[in-house]
Amino acid sequence: MQASHRLLIVWFLQFIPSSKNWISARNINFYNVIPQIGPTPFPNSFKCFTCENAVDNYNCNRWAEDKWCPPNTRYCLTVHHFASHGRSRSVTKKCASKEECHPVGCQHYRDSGHSECVSCCEGMICNIEVPTNHTNAVFSVMHAHRTSDASRRTMSISLLTALMIGMHLL
Ligand SMILES: *[C@@H]1O[C@H](CO)[C@@H](O)[C@H](O)[C@H]1NC(C)=O
Repeated sequence: MQASHRLLIVWFLQFIPSSKNWISARNINFYNVIPQIGPTPFPNSFKCFTCENAVDNYNCNRWAEDKWCPPNTRYCLTVHHFASHGRSRSVTKKCASKEECHPVGCQHYRDSGHSECVSCCEGMICNIEVPTNHTNAVFSVMHAHRTSDASRRTMSISLLTALMIGMHLL
């Protein structure tokens, strides 16, 4: 292998970890919207509003425990129980695994006239609101496809640059 080729490959490989760092840096910026207190206990750690059978959303969020979710969880789960006129009966929020987030959606109990909606979300303290209908009782994950599109674009630009520089070296 020619020395210039080897140089080109080494130079190009440097872009792979740096583009990864760029992606995580973008995610960290996104989370900076929510104030962070102290260091994170482990990589990708996050917090959820956590309460059990609070009377409504305000009382859940107001008194929610401020602690990191355990490493076996990845999402924030919200269970909202409410009467026919929409008034909350109970709100439960917690850190959840992917399995606990299935199924999400709303269920109406005809005998009592009550409804229950379950939602899950991904991200730092993402479960601020309570689900009230099929539109918001969903499992919302962070849009990874947009970042991977961006990284693919960055990669192709680095590849193009690498090829152009490589052609000059030859
Ligand atoms: C669902 O609830 C949200 C928030 O309460 C409301 O803005 C939205 O219009 C509702 N959607 C439907 C389809 O009822």
